[in-house]
Order: sequence, then C-alpha cells, then structure tokens
Amino acid sequence: MGEQTVGSSFASGHDLVVIVDLGSRHSQLIAKQIRGCQVYCEIWPPGVPVDEFRRRKVKGIVLAGPGAGGAQPGAAAGAHPGAAGLVDGLLELGIPALAVGPATGLMAAALGGTVRPGRKEQDLEAGARARLEILSNEDLFKAWDQEGAPEGPEAWLSAGGQVDELPPGFEVIARAEGRPAAIRHRERRLFGVQFHPELENAPWAKQLFRSFVREVCGCSPTWTVENFIEASVAEIKEKVGAGRVVCALSGGVDSSVTAALVYRAVGDQLTTIFVDHGFLRLGEAEQVIETFRGRFGQGFIHVDARARFLKRLEGVTDPEVKRKRIGEEFIRIFEEEARKLGNIRYLAQGTVYPDVIESGHGAAGTIKSHHNVGGLPEDMELELIEPLRALFKDEVRAVGEALGLPARIVWRQPFPGPGLAVRVTGEVTAERLEIERRADAIVVEEIERAGLGRDVWQYFAVLTDTRAVGVSRETRTYGYVVAVRAVTSVDGMTAGWARLPYDVLERISGRIMREVPGVSRVVYDISAKPPATIEWE
Ligand code: XMP
Repeated sequence: MGEQTVGSSFASGHDLVVIVDLGSRHSQLIAKQIRGCQVYCEIWPPGVPVDEFRRRKVKGIVLAGPGAGGAQPGAAAGAHPGAAGLVDGLLELGIPALAVGPATGLMAAALGGTVRPGRKEQDLEAGARARLEILSNEDLFKAWDQEGAPEGPEAWLSAGGQVDELPPGFEVIARAEGRPAAIRHRERRLFGVQFHPELENAPWAKQLFRSFVREVCGCSPTWTVENFIEASVAEIKEKVGAGRVVCALSGGVDSSVTAALVYRAVGDQLTTIFVDHGFLRLGEAEQVIETFRGRFGQGFIHVDARARFLKRLEGVTDPEVKRKRIGEEFIRIFEEEARKLGNIRYLAQGTVYPDVIESGHGAAGTIKSHHNVGGLPEDMELELIEPLRALFKDEVRAVGEALGLPARIVWRQPFPGPGLAVRVTGEVTAERLEIERRADAIVVEEIERAGLGRDVWQYFAVLTDTRAVGVSRETRTYGYVVAVRAVTSVDGMTAGWARLPYDVLERISGRIMREVPGVSRVVYDISAKPPATIEWE
C-alpha cells in the first residue's frame, strides 16, 4: 500500500495544473479545455492541504464553482474563506490561479474585496448571455487583439456573487453589462473571470485557457497521445518486469485500449480473457474475437459462458437481482480462468479518469494501489495496472486510434456491463434475447445509415414485457412492445431524448415489425434523464 497505481505516476513527467473543484458541474469541461492545450491537469476536491500543491510542484491552479448547493460567493463576503472551501494559504503559494465563474467571488472575498450576493436561483453556474468588453489585450485576452474584432465576444455570465469592490492590487480587465467580468492581479498572477469560457467552443475561449496555462503558468505542451503511449509503455514495462498480467476484455473501448497498451508494453506476458456472457449485441462477440485473437494470439482466451449466464437468470425479473447475478458470475468465471493460468501477478483494468473523480480519489495521495476492484477475491492478491486512469473518454479513443485499434471498437457507443440482459425487461430467455438482439441491430443500423451515429450518444432497442394486440395478414397477433431509445448526452450523467427524424423512426419501426417475429408494436421513448435513466433497468 502507499505507492501509486501504475497509470498515475507517469504524470510526474508533465507540468501539472490543478483544478480545485469547489462543487462545479463544469470541472471536467475545464479539464478538457486545458488538456486541449496539451497541458496535463487533475481535478482535486477542496481541502487538499497546500503542502500537497508544493509537493506535486503544481504550476497553475484553477478554481471552479461552487455550483448549486455549494457555498455561495455572496455568502463568503466578509466571511472566513475556508468556510467556502478555499484552503488557507492556497492563494499565497505564489502559484498562478484562475478563478472561473462563481469562484471569482470567492477569490475576491478571500483577498479582501467585497462581493454582492448572487441570485439565489437553483443554477448558480448559468447566468445570462452577454457581450464582454475587453479592457486589456494581454494574457487572458491576447487572442482578442489578434482576431481584430471591434467588439468583445459573447459568453455566459456567472449568476454567482458580483465583485463590488476589488481586492487590493486587482484591476478590471473585462466588463459585461457595466460590471467587472474579469479581474487580475498582475504581480501575483491571480485572475478571475465571472463568466464561463469552458462552455464556449470559440477560439478566444481556447486561447484564454491556453494563455493561462502555457504563458502565465509556463507549462510545457507535453501532454500528447504519443508521449502518453511512450511513457505508459515504459512505466508498465518497468513495473511488470518478467511478471504476468491478466486483463478482462469486454470489447468495450476502455478495456480494449487498456489491453492494447499493456500488450505493447509486455507482449506475451499479457493474457486477455473475453467472457462472452451472451448478452452482447448482434455480431459483437465475433468482432471481439476476430479483432483480438489476431492481435494477441495465444494471449487471448475466449470463454463461451452463454448457457451458464442464462441459467443464472432463470426466473429472475428484478433488475437489481439480474445485475448482481451477472456480476457475481462474471467474477467467478474470471477467477476460475485466472487460477487455471496460475502465476498471475497483475490485473490490468480500464479505469478512466471520470471513474476516479467519481469515486473521490481525484486528489493526489489518496490513490490506493492494491485494492481488489469489482469484488475479486482478496486471496488472489492481484496488483492493479490502470494505465487509463488519468484519461477522459476522448483521450482514450485517441490512444486507441494511435495504437491501431479498428474504428468500430474505438468509436463504440457506451454499453452496460450486463449488456442486453438489462434491455430485456422481465425474464431473460434465449428466445426473448434473440428478439431484443434483432430489434436492436435494426435501430443501430438505421441510425448509423442516416449518419447520426456520432450525434446521438446512445441508441438501442428495449424489449419490454408488455404485449399488445396487432394484426398481421388479417390475423390477430399478440406480440411484444419494443421501445426505441436514443439519447443525446455529454457524459451520460444527464440526457435528453434525441429528436430523430420521423423518416428514420418510420424505417426503424417498419423494419422491426416486418423483420422480427414476436413484435407487434414499436414505441419511442421520450423520457429525459433525470428523472428517467438511460437504460431501462
Ligand atoms: P443510466 O441508465 O444510469 O446509465 O442512465 C448511464 C450510462 O451508464 C451506462 N451503464 C452502465 N455501464 N455497467 C456499465 O459499464 C453498467 O452496469 C451500466 N449501467 C448503465 C449506460 O449505458 C449509460 O451510458
């Protein structure tokens, strides 16, 4: 214990910017903007002691939030800044800092300014859209000068507390609606923007982050796919030595890229285990086998466990029981296979950065190295290799492409671990699974044929356990209702139903009813998340 997991220490070769997440919903968007500048950044929770910033030689700090439910900047006026989440001494480290959105009020209050309370509306992070008036073409707004536009850009203003009186040494460098929209302390290299550049796709917003991290903080642009692969391969090689590694391969993006990366590092010392639980989509198991058997040869084990999983689900209708049984069975099979191999020391896993942030391990020093994830038995004592744990999904895809994985693997839509079993409501039988699989294939085919594959986050069919009356060749039928689900989303946390063109919906419905026996009706799911979820179970 204590040492870091493989996959996090390679970051030590890069300049580090830390986003202190004071309860913002935009931290990951800020992180993506910074990484887009080829600068490595991490998201840390509030309260990490300043010594950690020194120890990790942090070169820049971004303060994000607080959002709804978090401390309000207005409330921070005159109050102890610690109460609002800023650690004492953070702004005195001499490290450049950029406060984004409501954090500007926090920063100003912490440094002796006064702040007018923000609107007490639910969403503190999204105010009105307004035009910025740029007062200084240096640093943050350098690009504005280059673009030569007479008027400033438009941005979403923060609805958080407004800076009334500047803290000593600060100046206003942009205005909106007659109020300060951006402030700066030139010597201390402290900045605050009371708007949300992370929500903008425009060159000026990208330049704002780029100027801050590259010029103000002096970070080198070393965070590239090539450097990442090279450093990870070297690190995995060193860690693993002559040991053997096992990796569960689902065929999803994360586990596929993990396996490809570990294989590049240690070759035949890696054994990948593909457990086919039988709940994959049409043709998917075959694709995984073809892609990876060719690549890994002897290092690829295919376990056909379809019958075993179906048996475990006999008579089960409760979604939670389904999920639990599938999870348990998976671990049992994986464990059996790993034991047969014997002499395995490492387990490679496709943990990605959003998983790390969500489990509260975002801050340095809190990462455990030997925990057995996913319920693997303690006595296996496998050490984890998680080379993707610092990466966002788009970065994982870029690494996958650079490693030469086929596009159909790299660009796969997210797919739940329990697969189609949670898209067949009620009991999962071989027959019902087949109906679901065929209906799903039609949804996928038609949406991709219409060129909508990359606009829609997920698209699939659900076989409900409701039946409806229909008529076919003048005979009454009584078949299942299939629901079509297509959602737009950025991260899967929230989602809207996709406004699919009617003709696409019509083709989907017509084909399912014509081509899939046992279905008498097709409906379109128009529920947003929340309050619904993306999956039905
Ligand atoms: P929900 O249904 O909770 O899904 O809105 C959010 C996202 O997570 C995916 N999902 C899963 N992914 N194992 C996974 O790896 C699971 O058990 C699981 N359940 C849901 C879902 O497809 C969506 O992208």
